[in-house]
Amino acid sequence: MDSNVRPESMVRITTPELAQAFIDEQIAAVKAQVGDKRVLLALSGGVDSSVVAALLIKAIGKQLVCVHVNHGLLRKGEPEQVVDVFRNQMDANLIYIDAVDRFLDKLAGVAEPEKKRKIIGEEFIRVFEEEARKLDGIEFLAQGTIYPDILESGPVKAHHNVGGLPEDIHFEGLVEPVKLLFKDEVRVVGKQLGLPDNMVYRQPFPGPGLGVRCTGAITRERLELVRESDAILRDEFAKNGLEGKVWQYFTVVPDLKSVGVKDGVRCYENPVIIRAVNTRDAMTATVEPLDWDLLFRITNRILAEVDGVNRVLYDVTPKPTGTIEWE
Ligand code: XMP
Repeated sequence: MDSNVRPESMVRITTPELAQAFIDEQIAAVKAQVGDKRVLLALSGGVDSSVVAALLIKAIGKQLVCVHVNHGLLRKGEPEQVVDVFRNQMDANLIYIDAVDRFLDKLAGVAEPEKKRKIIGEEFIRVFEEEARKLDGIEFLAQGTIYPDILESGPVKAHHNVGGLPEDIHFEGLVEPVKLLFKDEVRVVGKQLGLPDNMVYRQPFPGPGLGVRCTGAITRERLELVRESDAILRDEFAKNGLEGKVWQYFTVVPDLKSVGVKDGVRCYENPVIIRAVNTRDAMTATVEPLDWDLLFRITNRILAEVDGVNRVLYDVTPKPTGTIEWE
């Protein structure tokens, strides 16, 4: 039987008990597969790779080597959380790589969206390969493949998933414990493994990260505006009970400036665009009808707390015609 086909008899994992049974089963399967060999995992902090990491830590402990690459395009607090949860709380063997300068230098002056994606994806594989080569005797590669990845037929954009297999390193085999699960099941398993809610239930975040929300050629200054305004937006959504209700919400800082006035003085600064959408399959999307008071509150906070922003806009464009991301 094709191990990439979900058997019809497989029950959907909807309860902690079912999740625990799945975890026990996978722990035994992983132990049988890898024996005393070591396993490498690129741990982004996203739901899928985090659940795989937590599962493998339970199964093989320090035989798992997690590599977290900070490419400088992560959201505020994300790299810190990965280190805290996996190294401090779960005692994982975690290698943290600060590749911020390396990625931003490579991206400097590159404005074309697909070119940016390609650079981020390729550089990610390169950094990961370099680390893998430094580690002796790693026989297996673990991946957070989930069932929709297997079923997916035509990605909307090129290089949709950052990561992928390092091309010129030979591994004895792949460890993909959640490859037959749907996203909601992965979350139930993650919760049962003790991962924090904001990791398990987090909204989708594209592989190229904030890089596609800092439109055109990325600059460190505008990237910080995206990161800080996004943190405020997420904070306000959480405080107002919208976290987990709205499918995806984020800010964009376009490559343009406009004239404004601050403290009676003319300024020439960037706008921040807020986007909040709902969708079932990401092929079409509708705009979340945000409450005006909340919009004004978020606007006031961004204008007061993020230096270098003089306007805030709400993107009311459905998909089509706009994609969810701006690039
Ligand atoms: P769009 O912008 O095409 O996005 O309407 C649909 C969904 O896909 C996410 N997205 C990406 N995810 N790598 C990813 O892993 C990418 O390059 C990428 N581009 C878009 C987007 O956030 C949305 O959830």
